[in-house]
Amino acid sequence: MSTHTHPSTDLERQHPVDDPGLEPHAERYIDSDERLGRAANRQVVALFGLSPLLALAATVVYFAIPRDLEITFIGFHTPAHHFWFGLLLGSAILLIGLGAVHWARTLMSDVEMIEERHPIASSEEDRAGILAEIDKGIADTGLSRRKMILASMGGALGLFAVPMLVTLADLGPWPTRSERARTIERTLFAEATPSKPVRLVNDTTWAPIRAADLEIGQLVNAQPENLKNLHGTAVQVEKSKAAIIIVRMAIDKINIPESRKDWHVDGILCYSKICTHVGCPISLWEQQTHHLLCPCHQSTFDLGDSGVVVFGPAARALPQLPITVNEAGELVAHGDFTVPVGPSYFERDSRNDYQKGDN
Ligand code: FES
Repeated sequence: MSTHTHPSTDLERQHPVDDPGLEPHAERYIDSDERLGRAANRQVVALFGLSPLLALAATVVYFAIPRDLEITFIGFHTPAHHFWFGLLLGSAILLIGLGAVHWARTLMSDVEMIEERHPIASSEEDRAGILAEIDKGIADTGLSRRKMILASMGGALGLFAVPMLVTLADLGPWPTRSERARTIERTLFAEATPSKPVRLVNDTTWAPIRAADLEIGQLVNAQPENLKNLHGTAVQVEKSKAAIIIVRMAIDKINIPESRKDWHVDGILCYSKICTHVGCPISLWEQQTHHLLCPCHQSTFDLGDSGVVVFGPAARALPQLPITVNEAGELVAHGDFTVPVGPSYFERDSRNDYQKGDN
C-alpha cells in the first residue's frame, strides 16, 4: 500500500524535506596562519615557474635528439625523441594543472554558501546582487593582489605554446614533386624489377602465395616480401602504403580492360588494401558481387571491374598492382603501382586513375 502523500502548502512544496543546513565551516590551515598562506603563495608561483622551464627543455629536446635514436624503457623500445619530448611537455602541463589546483584550494576564497532554487527569471534586484557577487568572487580570487601568481601563470601558459608550435615542423618537409615521389607516391614495390621481382607474401605468416593455392572467391591479405628487410617504425610506414589484397575471380565473370590484360594471373588480381577515401585498410569482401566494402564510410569498390567505385564517398578507383608468377608458381610484382595509393591530396595527379569504361 502506498504511503505517499501530496504536499499541501506552498512551504511544503518548496521544502519537501528538512533543510539539513551547512556543515560547520572547517578552517583551512592557511586561513589561521599568514606565514603558511605566504608559503602556499610561493609554492603556486614555483609550480607555475617550473612549467616554462620544462616547456623550453621540451623544445630543445625536439631539435637536439636524433629521430632514429631508440631507448629501452621498462622493456619497451621507443624512439628517444618521442619519449623525452612527451615526458617534458606532459610534465610542463601537469605543473600548470597542479599550480591551478593548489591555488584554488589554498588561496582562493573558502566560503560555503546555500543558493535557494527559485523561478528561472531573476528579479532586477537579484540580478544586481549576482553581479555584485561576481565582482566579489573576482576580488576573492586575489587576481588583483597576487601579481606574482598571475605573472608566473601567464609565463607558464605562454611558454607552453612554444613546444606546441615547434611540433608544426613535423608537418614538413614541404611536399615538393621530388619529396612526394620519394615518400607518399612510392611503395616498397618500387624496388621490384623484371629481373629482380618481389614476392607477394601472406601478411601474417610471410608465406609466399602460390597461384595454384588460391580458389575462386578467395581473398588473401598480403604484403611485399622485402618489408622483412626493414626495422622499427620504417616497417609500419612502408606497410601502411604497400598493404595489398589478392583475390581470385572466375575470369569469364569479370571485366579485364585491354590495358590491364597482363596485370592478372588466371583471374587472380592484386589491389591496394588502402581505401582511396581517407585511407582505412579494407578487406570486407563480397565474393558473389565482387564488391569490396570499406568499413569506415562504406565506400564500395568493384574488384571485378578494375576497382571502380560503385558506392560511397571515395572518389577514385582502388589502385591495382600488376602481378605475374615466378618459376615456382608464386605471385610476384615487377614494379610499383602505376598511381599513388591511399587518399587524395592537393597535388595528386589523377590523370592515370582508372575510370569506369576505360580500356
Ligand atoms: S576511408 Fe574508406 S570509405 Fe572512408
